[in-house]
Amino acid sequence: MPNTVITTREEPIATVQINRPDVLNALNEEVLDELVKELTKLDDDDAIRCIVLTGNERAFAAGADIKETFVTATPVSMLKQDLTTRWEAIRRIRTPIVAAVSGYALGGGCELAMICDIIVASETAQFGQPEINLGIIPGAGGTQRLTRTVGKYRANELILTGRRVKADEAKAIGLAAQVYPAASWLDDAKALARTIAEKPPVAARLATEAVDLAWNSTLDAGLEFERKAFYLLFATEDKKEGVDAFVNKRKATFKGK
Ligand code: CAA
Repeated sequence: MPNTVITTREEPIATVQINRPDVLNALNEEVLDELVKELTKLDDDDAIRCIVLTGNERAFAAGADIKETFVTATPVSMLKQDLTTRWEAIRRIRTPIVAAVSGYALGGGCELAMICDIIVASETAQFGQPEINLGIIPGAGGTQRLTRTVGKYRANELILTGRRVKADEAKAIGLAAQVYPAASWLDDAKALARTIAEKPPVAARLATEAVDLAWNSTLDAGLEFERKAFYLLFATEDKKEGVDAFVNKRKATFKGK
């Protein structure tokens, strides 16, 4: 059996690829477990400073595995399966993750992309929350993260119709940060990851944590976290290096210390 998740290290970045092409990378329990395992391993690895999470040209992920997971599912079986702990574990990865989306990012696929820190899209990308067509609603954060990203009225329009959003519209509504040509989307996403990997990693981690907090807390609590993280970074060697490099007009080399 081929691995359902393939990790490729190109230090200081790593690419984690969902690999169930026959079912458009539908997310079953095994894929989610593998994703958590691989991402956690990379998060603990100081040599990796940015992760690209991707699928293949046809699909980032077409959502939860409907055939494997939903056909006989009951509330109790869903509760016992407890996929939420996997989604939460992915959310807690602090190494910046770039979701590189080509083709379909639907349902849980769109939700997985939204858990990442940045979404970039091939011009072929199509995002959507089509769960309504199955008689259900998004169950891995879609109603919350999409709404916080695109606003209540657009989120309702997308969630109630299940309409798919193409790359340019995804960029226009703030879901995708960049749209790349179909011929180079993955290379372009890796180039972005390498740019991020050159930055001081402790600052990058605290930055993504602070940005996440803008979703999860009050403005006062978020500002408080930001202020403390800002002060804390003045104790790092990388702050000395960054400031010294600026003053002496040279390129900084950050060590993550
Ligand atoms: N689960 C299981 N299998 C899937 C799948 C999914 N989510 N999406 C696609 N597949 C399978 C198809 O059944 C098909 O398999 P067979 O060849 O064995 O028939 C194969 O992948 C190729 O798919 P299609 O033939 O359907 O390809 P297409 O190009 O005609 O259509 C598509 C592509 C529009 C993405 C269509 O496959 C589709 O609508 N998929 C379902 C999308 C969806 O509803 N996702 C939400 C799932 S619910 C969810 O994610 C809940 C949550 O919040 C966690």
